[in-house]
Order: sequence, then structure tokens, then C-alpha cells
Amino acid sequence: MIGTAPCAPTRLRPAERLLRRVVAGPLAMEATNPRHEPVMLDQVLAVLAVRPGSVVVDGTVGLGGHSERLAEAAGADGTLVAFDWDEAMLAHAQRRLERLLLRKYWFCEDFRSIPEALEGLGLRADAILLDLGLNSAQVDDPLRGFSFLQEGPLDMRMDRGRGEPASSLLNRLALGEIEDILRDYGDERFARAIARKIVERRKLRPLRTTRDLVECVLEAVPPKARDPRIHPATRTFQAVRCAVTRELEGLEDALVRIGRCLKPEGRMAVLAYHSGEDRCAKRAMRRLAEEGFEELFRKPLLPEPEEVRRNPRSRSAKLRAVRRIGGGVE
Ligand SMILES: C[S@@+](CC[C@H](N)C(=O)[O-])C[C@H]1O[C@@H](n2cnc3c(N)ncnc32)[C@H](O)[C@@H]1O
Repeated sequence: MIGTAPCAPTRLRPAERLLRRVVAGPLAMEATNPRHEPVMLDQVLAVLAVRPGSVVVDGTVGLGGHSERLAEAAGADGTLVAFDWDEAMLAHAQRRLERLLLRKYWFCEDFRSIPEALEGLGLRADAILLDLGLNSAQVDDPLRGFSFLQEGPLDMRMDRGRGEPASSLLNRLALGEIEDILRDYGDERFARAIARKIVERRKLRPLRTTRDLVECVLEAVPPKARDPRIHPATRTFQAVRCAVTRELEGLEDALVRIGRCLKPEGRMAVLAYHSGEDRCAKRAMRRLAEEGFEELFRKPLLPEPEEVRRNPRSRSAKLRAVRRIGGGVE
């Protein structure tokens, strides 16, 4: 789940409280008990309708909140195939789920490799869940650099041993490229102005921290133009994160390929948290509907108001799902 909340915006606070300085150490995710409330849990369980003995694939296991309940429904004779490209998340989920199910397989990989992994295991799925984006534990860990509310290194990588951190990307790209990222991945109205601020600022000294990026946004977006319901840096952080993780690249095709791993009558559910993710989910499901799948509902399901009150990070969630009609195209 971005602000990067898991793609849900955070409420606006007075400018002087926008950033809390990080106290290194005990706040780091590895050292605390990370928490994440699974979004639309009841709806996901109802939609996936997991029965005892099912093969359940969780492509985004996170802290294992959804998986725990899906695994309980699959029972001791069920199978869980779990993916997360964040090693720390996968390790937490493994600990949480170790008492459940007989057969469990763990992949610290991009969920785009689900088809190959299932083929290797000789399995097809009864239920597949993709709960896209980040979870609260990742957002709330200042050392990951996903949060505009806490100062930390401007990193945003999923695997911190690989790839280019956000700071290096923003210090390297041309103005037009940064603008495209902010517009394409964040639908940011002030993409040009923010990109210009970033380029101006890095001439003085390279961007290093989340605070550096938040300051660029605050200088670029006029106070009168800000939406009082969300932090002005929400869209920028979401966009930069998508550029760093490349999480939208090939997503639509990946969802189609993953859907084809279902057994007849199997179901796939996708939870999206911003327009870029939901567009991919919607298009993938429309494509699957042309080849032997049924969209379970044409319009996405949304969280109940009570859930949004309890867990504001759920408020941008959209749930879509398909069922493979018995004997569909292989
Ligand atoms: C919203 S959280 C999932 C939370 C989980 N459903 C729970 O109840 O704890 C999304 C998780 O998916 C992971 N993730 C996002 N995109 C991924 C990808 N392409 N491949 C593998 N993992 C991914 C993130 O690291 C994060 O842990």
C-alpha cells in the first residue's frame, strides 16, 4: 500500500509538520513489528471463494494478511505459492504462515514470473491474488524512502541491492524525462513546475533525501492549487516510485499471462490503488473475457465506508476479478 501509501493519499498536514526527522535504529522496519491491515479482506475472500485443498497463489504476499485467511480456507491439504520481491516482506510472511498448510512455496521475485514458477512446480491455480503497490510496513519505514512524511534516504528500491535509487534517477534524468514520469505515473498537474524545481535544486546540490524532494514539490505547487484532502507530494512520490520499481511496465500483459494459469473455475482478483494500476487491471480482464473468462463484475468493487474510516489507506482501493469458465482456452 504510497504517498506514497499503498497508493492511497495521506491527509494534508501543516507545512511545518510535513516531515518528521528520522530517529535511526529502532524505527527501522527490521527492528520493529511491522503492521499492515489487509485491504477489502472480506470482499477478497468472497470473490476468490477458496475451498479446502485449493492451490492459492499470492503474487504480493507482503506481511501475509490476505494469505493467512486464504490459507485457512485452503486448509491443511491446500497449497500456497507466495511471491514478494521484497525479501524483508517475504521473511515476515514466512514466519506468520509457517503453522498453516502442508505445502508452501516462496519466491522472492517479481510476480511476473508466476507462470514459469507454476509450470516448474507442475501446478495450476484455483485462486490468484495480486494486491498491488506497497504495504504500510514499507511506507512507514523511513529508511526505504517511500514516505513524504518522514525524512530518509531518497531510495524507493524494492531490492536495495539492485537497481537505481530515486535520488540517482532524479539527479540524472533530463527535465523533460522527469516531467513525463510525473505526468504519466502520477497524473500530476504540476509536472513541469516540479521537474523544473528538481533540476534547479540539483544544480546547487544533488537530491539526497525525501525531504529534498518534498521541498521541490512544495516550492512548485502554489498553496491555492493544493487539494486539501491529500498531501501535495502524494502524486510525485507515487510517480517516482513507479519509475524506480518499474512496477507498471508490462503489467497488463503480465496479468493476462497470470490469469491463464488458472484452472477451469479458478478465480483471480486484483487490488489496484491508483489509476495506472487500475487501467492495467481493467484492460487485462477485458482481454481475458475475450478468451474464456468471465469478469465477475463490470465495475470494480470499492471498500466499505467503515473500512475507509478504520484504515484510510484503503480508500483508493479498487477490486476487479475474473473467473475462468470451465474448459476455457489453454
Ligand atoms: C499492498 S502490499 C500486499 C499486502 C498483503 N496483501 C498483506 O495482506 O499483507 C503489496 C506487496 O507486494 C509486493 N509487490 C509489489 N509489486 C510486486 C511485484 N511486481 N512482484 C512481487 N512483489 C510485488 C510489495 O513488496 C508489497 O509487499
